[in-house]
Amino acid sequence: TERTYIMVKPDGVQRGLVGEIIQRFERRGFKMIALKMVWPTTELLEKHYADLKNRPFFPNLIKYMASGPVVAIVLEGRDAVATGRVMLGETDPLKSAPGTIRGDLCLQVGRNICHGSDSVQNAEKEIALWFPEGIVKYTLATENWIFE
Ligand code: GTP
Ligand code: MG
Repeated sequence: TERTYIMVKPDGVQRGLVGEIIQRFERRGFKMIALKMVWPTTELLEKHYADLKNRPFFPNLIKYMASGPVVAIVLEGRDAVATGRVMLGETDPLKSAPGTIRGDLCLQVGRNICHGSDSVQNAEKEIALWFPEGIVKYTLATENWIFE
């Protein structure tokens, strides 16, 4: 099965949306295999968003993401990366369908409350970056009720 890196951003934490966001993934059937709160350094964030280094909004993105604690989550499940992105909605909340996290809970691209890995390869990179201590291995009692 596949893993993805999900992160409630500082605005999501400040707005009290951590539980709401985790609940959506839990109810969908994803297994949480790592979870922690961390106030990220700019150094860590610059590695996380390295692909965006040359974009004009990059300095503001780093400032936003370093403005408070985030909640770092690793999810495991069938097609976790692509399904996680569908559940998040579009990068721009105004283009996100109702029923998605961004489409239901926020309004601006620079305050879009939650991150999700965009490829399996980036998911593995991000998980290693945010959880160098590793993840938790366990069996979920409901697995046979979620997958045939
Ligand atoms: P993440 O899940 O956070 O990686 O978002 P994404 O994959 O939907 O978008 P992308 O990786 O391209 O950009 C990362 C983050 O940079 C976005 O979530 C936004 O917070 C911010 N961002 C992207 N494009 C813009 C933009 O045009 N303007 C501003 N102000 N911020 C942007
Ligand atoms: Mg991205």
